[in-house]
Amino acid sequence: MTFAATILTLYPEMFPGPLGQSLAGRALSEGRWSCDPVQIRDFATDKHRSVDDTPAGGGAGMVLRADVIASAVDHALDSQPEAPILAMTPRGNPLTQERVRALAAGPGVTILCGRFEGFDERIFEGRPIEPVSIGDYVLSGGESAAIVLLDACIRLLPGVMGAASSGDDESFETGLLEYPHYTRPVEWEGRTIPEVLRSGDHAKIAAWRKRQAEIDTRLRRPDLWERHEGARVKSPSGAHDKKKER
Ligand code: ADE
Repeated sequence: MTFAATILTLYPEMFPGPLGQSLAGRALSEGRWSCDPVQIRDFATDKHRSVDDTPAGGGAGMVLRADVIASAVDHALDSQPEAPILAMTPRGNPLTQERVRALAAGPGVTILCGRFEGFDERIFEGRPIEPVSIGDYVLSGGESAAIVLLDACIRLLPGVMGAASSGDDESFETGLLEYPHYTRPVEWEGRTIPEVLRSGDHAKIAAWRKRQAEIDTRLRRPDLWERHEGARVKSPSGAHDKKKER
């Protein structure tokens, strides 16, 4: 099955962009996913082909018009009704690995790329459009965010990465960051690979990796750590909970 990506954008020439290279590029030429950029401006109705207007209530910048965006979305819905529609915006729901997995397991995705100050909010009211953010920073447009989202999905498609992408200990799959990696040379700039990784003792190695993942997550991502610890305490199989239930 081909994962069909339709991208509604004012810059269709930005696609597939970097996704035409390397792993995603190979998957594209193998037909594992398809890339269909659609020019939003083609849905403008006035003689100037305008897609934006000044913000109601005043303020800087321009806002993407609801009527033009809705026509573009309806066109995508007609051609791919079963694909979820995501609008890339810094005001969106944070993208997670869990959401990426669910998307990659589906038929494809329609991605609406924002520009300027964003979309007229009314587009989210009458149509099943999910606002999505890739992080707490502002990009110049949704196109690079769409590329990030697609990259995360494509590597999970069957046959794209094989075993490497289904690893249960990959970052976020366990609710933690992944453990650190090392390779030869054993000594570099006076630093050596941790002894345990050269011991051949798989149980010890697994325990060390788990510990490192916990340490790094606690230090770098206290938000993830808190959620992980909360889930552990609340889990029905967790000792804490059993005690509480008695
Ligand atoms: N457009 C601009 N910034 C963005 C972000 N952080 N995520 C998704 N789309 C965006």
